[in-house]
This record gives sequence, C-alpha cells and structure tokens, in this order.
Amino acid sequence: MANASGFFTPSVGFSAKVEGAHKHASTSHSPIPRLVSKGCKLVGCGSAVPALQISNDDLSKIVDTSDEWISVRTGIRARRVLSGRENLASLAVEAARKALEMAKVDPDDVDLILMCTSTPDDLFGSAPQIQNQLGCKTNPLSYDITAACSGFLMGLVSAACHIRGGGFNNVLVIGADAVSRFVDWTDRGTCILFGDGAGAVMVQACNSEEDGLFAFDLHSDGIGGRHLGAAIKENESNNALDSNDSVFGFPPKQSSYSCIQMNGKEVFRFAIRCVPQSIESALEKAGLPVSSIDWLLLHQANQRIIDAVATRLELPSERVISNLANYGNTSAASIPLALDQAVRSGKVKPGQTIATAGFGAGLTWGSAIIRWG
Ligand code: ACO
Repeated sequence: MANASGFFTPSVGFSAKVEGAHKHASTSHSPIPRLVSKGCKLVGCGSAVPALQISNDDLSKIVDTSDEWISVRTGIRARRVLSGRENLASLAVEAARKALEMAKVDPDDVDLILMCTSTPDDLFGSAPQIQNQLGCKTNPLSYDITAACSGFLMGLVSAACHIRGGGFNNVLVIGADAVSRFVDWTDRGTCILFGDGAGAVMVQACNSEEDGLFAFDLHSDGIGGRHLGAAIKENESNNALDSNDSVFGFPPKQSSYSCIQMNGKEVFRFAIRCVPQSIESALEKAGLPVSSIDWLLLHQANQRIIDAVATRLELPSERVISNLANYGNTSAASIPLALDQAVRSGKVKPGQTIATAGFGAGLTWGSAIIRWG
C-alpha cells in the first residue's frame, strides 16, 4: 500500500484462523475462520495520571493562546503533567497493578512485561524496574518498546505474537509516556497538545476459540518521520573537547534530546489518510464489516482527527471513545488510558468489538480489531 509519503511499503498484518465459526457476542457478523493453535484475550486494564492538572487557561498565561483556540482546534481542555516526586515508572506501576487486580492475576504469574514508551526514566529502558516495583518474584522477561504514539498498539500485537508463538501466558502491556519532559513550553504550536499518563492491559493466553485479536495492520515510514520528532542534539559546551589533549572528534560530545519538533498540518494529513486505510485493511483481514465495530478507539491526538476518521468509516459519534478533553495527547498511554476509563465506566462491555488505531512519530501507525474481555 502507499505509505505516508506516497511510496509503497509492505504492510505487516495478521489474521489468525481457528477451526470453526468464531463466536461474536455483540453483532451478527463473525470474523473469518482462523488458524491459531493458541489464542489471546484482554482480561484486565488499569490507568494512572499525574496529580497536576494544567488547563488551557493556565497555558494561556505562559504562551499566546486561549482556551477557545485550543478547544476548537483540538478538543483539548486540560492535561496532566508530572510534578514533584512523580515519575513515569510510578505511574506505570500504578496502572499495571490495577490491570493485574482486574484480571485477578498475581504479579508472580506474569511472564512478560512490555513497557511501551518513548520517554523512559532511564535511557536504557524502564521495564525491568517496573517488574521489580511490581514485586514479581519470578523475574518475568521485561523490555521496552519505542514506537511513539503507536507504541501501545505495537506492544499489544507483540504480546499476541509472544503468546501464540513463544509460549507466554500472562503478558502485561503498559503504555506510558511523560512527553511533557520534551515539550518546548514556549512553543504554542506543540505545548497545547501533550500530557502525561499511563495505561496497562493484561493479555492472557486462551484457547483458539476465545481468541480476542481478530486482525491487525502495522506500518512505518522513515521518510515521513521528518514531520515529527525529538532528535538528539549535542550539548554546546563539552569539557573533554575543549581540552588541548583531546583527539579530534573523540571523546564524543555528551548528548541530550531536543524538544518535540512537529509540522502539525502534515501530521494531521497523514493521520486522516492512513488511519482509516489501516482500519479498513484490518477489518478486511478479520472478515468483518464496519458495522461490526462496537467502539472506535483511536490514539487521542486531536478531536478533529478522531471525528474525520469516524466520518470516513461512517461510524456515529456515539460509538467513538474520547477522553482527549481531559488528558490531551498522552502518546503511548492514550489508548489504554481511554480504554480503562471506558471499561470502568461500563461503556465498553465484555464481548464487544473495538477497532483501535495508533499513529505518530516515526512515522508509525497501525490498527487492531480486538474483543474486550
Ligand atoms: N494558540 C493560538 N494560535 C495558534 C496556536 C495556539 N496554541 N498555535 C498556532 N496558532 C496560530 C498559528 O500561528 C497560525 O496563525 P497565522 O494564521 O497567523 O499564521 C494559526 O493559528 C493556524 O495555525 P496552524 O498551525 O495552521 O493550525 P492548525 O489548524 O493546523 O492546528 C494543530 C494546529 C492543532 C497542531 C493541528 O495541526 C494538529 O493537531 N495536527 C496534528 C498534530 C498531532 O496529532 N501530533 C501528535 C502526533 S502523535 C506523536 O507521535 C507525538
């Protein structure tokens, strides 16, 4: 298919097959028969957000903007931002604990933790620290996945692959980001969009008839990546290189990351073009029509993007999940955070079908058709 830059890239997708017709609780449509020896299902979720809430009016005190401009153009009214002693791992652990509790899974029975984040507390990743803080005595395998706002979706599909092909049983997928650390709070074009948060989902092995990941469709496009990033930058001062004894070019300068640079219009165009295509492709692989979708759950980036995708898919707003107004764009956390709130409020019920899609820096994007519970 054509990628975000108009080039053709192979898509990564999967449509598992089980023997016999698949039971589908909420519609008359059934996914196409699928061939998997083992299935996976979503059995618990949880979320956590920082205590500090920053409203649009608060932002208008530090940059030239207004509540009206931000809410009309994005749908965002407030966001949460890490402060004081809070850190990303503590949010991730809180979300993970709630997901384990809902799933009735003991931390010692978790055999894999996937921490999806682009902003870990440690450059080398946070997953083993989360494993430790959760008190998993069995030392489950744990590692980080970096795919920006598509991170949770990539983690969810990775969890399914680990279960189906790797013999794992209880996989904790966490999406957590503290993008506020890399926002230029003097840039009104970006700082209005982002917030911090964490969400987690427990993905559990089950028999093939109960499989709850009907199909997925994943993409990336490094050419389009120029529209959104937070690239590494060399620090201006460098003691080692200032020394007369240093060899030219060595030791390397110490580095840090620049703030988020974004071409908002290009990212917007990319999202409204590629996300519906990806969902349609995943639905086709699953053998399901759009009418089988109970809920559309997109990465929460901009309400206008969510509305445009829903319109293109001809899905009414009553079937669209959005918590953007209160949390803004929380990157890899946005999908599990919105899912958790929708499940706990009773909106999303066991057996319902969700079309979910992530998109963001990289560029990366993708979708999955899943069943909750
Ligand atoms: N307040 C007031 N005015 C503003 C603000 C602001 N916060 N920001 C920009 N403006 C002004 C601009 O300067 C411009 O003024 P001008 O016409 O005098 O030049 C005018 O408003 C229009 O600016 P645009 O940038 O054209 O506004 P647009 O309608 O494109 O909205 C936005 C900008 C909200 C960023 C939109 O493009 C968008 O949401 N894009 C998608 C971004 C996104 O989803 N990014 C996250 C991806 S996920 C990840 O991986 C991190």
